Amino acid sequence: MLTPRESFLIFGAPMIGEEEINEVVDSLRSGWVGTGPKVDRFETMLSAYLDVEHCRCVSSCTAALFLSMLVLGIGPGDEVLVPAMTFVASANAVEHVGATPVLVDSVPGTGLIDLDAAEAAITPRTRAIMPVHLAGRPVDMDRLTDLRDRYGLEVIEDAAHALGAEWRGRRIGAFGNLTAFSFYVTKNISTVEGGALATEDPDTAAEIERLALHGLSLGAWQRFSDAGFRHYEVVRPGFKYNMTDVQAALGLHQLPRLDEWIDRRAELWTRYDELLAGLPLEPPPAPEPHTRHARHLYQVLLAPDASLTRDQLLDALTEHKIGTGVHYRGVHTHPFYRDTYGLSDEQFPVATAISERTISLPLSPKVSEADQDDVATALREVLRR
Ligand SMILES: Cc1ncc(COP(=O)(O)O)c(C=O)c1O
Repeated sequence: MLTPRESFLIFGAPMIGEEEINEVVDSLRSGWVGTGPKVDRFETMLSAYLDVEHCRCVSSCTAALFLSMLVLGIGPGDEVLVPAMTFVASANAVEHVGATPVLVDSVPGTGLIDLDAAEAAITPRTRAIMPVHLAGRPVDMDRLTDLRDRYGLEVIEDAAHALGAEWRGRRIGAFGNLTAFSFYVTKNISTVEGGALATEDPDTAAEIERLALHGLSLGAWQRFSDAGFRHYEVVRPGFKYNMTDVQAALGLHQLPRLDEWIDRRAELWTRYDELLAGLPLEPPPAPEPHTRHARHLYQVLLAPDASLTRDQLLDALTEHKIGTGVHYRGVHTHPFYRDTYGLSDEQFPVATAISERTISLPLSPKVSEADQDDVATALREVLRR
């Protein structure tokens, strides 16, 4: 009989150390807690890490995706190719500018957007494609770049899971597209809430910065810093999507540890593969050899002939104090998208199968070998019933 865990194992707990805490306290004591010099430093640090000319930090990846749509001038009448297998934020960003998200099914195994199906879905109205590097696994950047160039598409990469991922030695974010990252609590690095947009284009970077702060011609730091008050002008109404220095204070100490954390995630991943062998769970495919997988999620697929359903498995693991996630129930399964666009599960057979069978197990640098043993023991117990 299984000995119950004492505490609940959080599925994606952030790693927050003394350096982050001290830096946050430093911001609080400094009196400058809003957007200011720490956001500036974090943006520079991110640009250097990604090897990209510009990074602009915003309040979330969702904000970065939405602002990308705006700066590209995507709107009513335009179509944007979006994977069915993603978090709804990707498709919502397209909806919010009045454009049409055209959902694309996944490749079996990896669950990544099927780029052949994407190509087949291109019409004269297709303006852009928004690939998602699901779980931290890079999409095929050779094929994506070829599609972009042959059809003249804009590319907005949803890299919410993929900070630190690489394709042929180049970091995701450095392929000349707009790339949006997330620093939400469960992500590979966290500023609690936060996101960034990477771009090579200085005008795009400047426009993102303006749109993230009401459309003002000068940011708060420029207006109120020790250089004295200066007036701003608005040429286009913007939004309130700025990152604060308190958030950036966390990021400044998280980013330098990202690579070490990805290596730790990779160790845990391999160990899960070993521990779960023989169970009716299909492990995630191994990373492609010429890539670096950011190892954001460890997702398994429950075998169709398992003794219980995926949702029963989630409940049973919760009873054993094991936190889990579902990434994702496809966009086409949500009533808004299903009803607005008349979508059916049959149109997206691969994404539908993933929606029904996927389960993400606890994975973060905070997870210990003993935690993993508890997960494996609980799974063995539950799946034996
Ligand atoms: C694939 C994907 N895209 C976008 C987002 C949105 O990120 P944020 O929470 O930073 O807005 C998420 C967040 O979970 C995500 O998983």
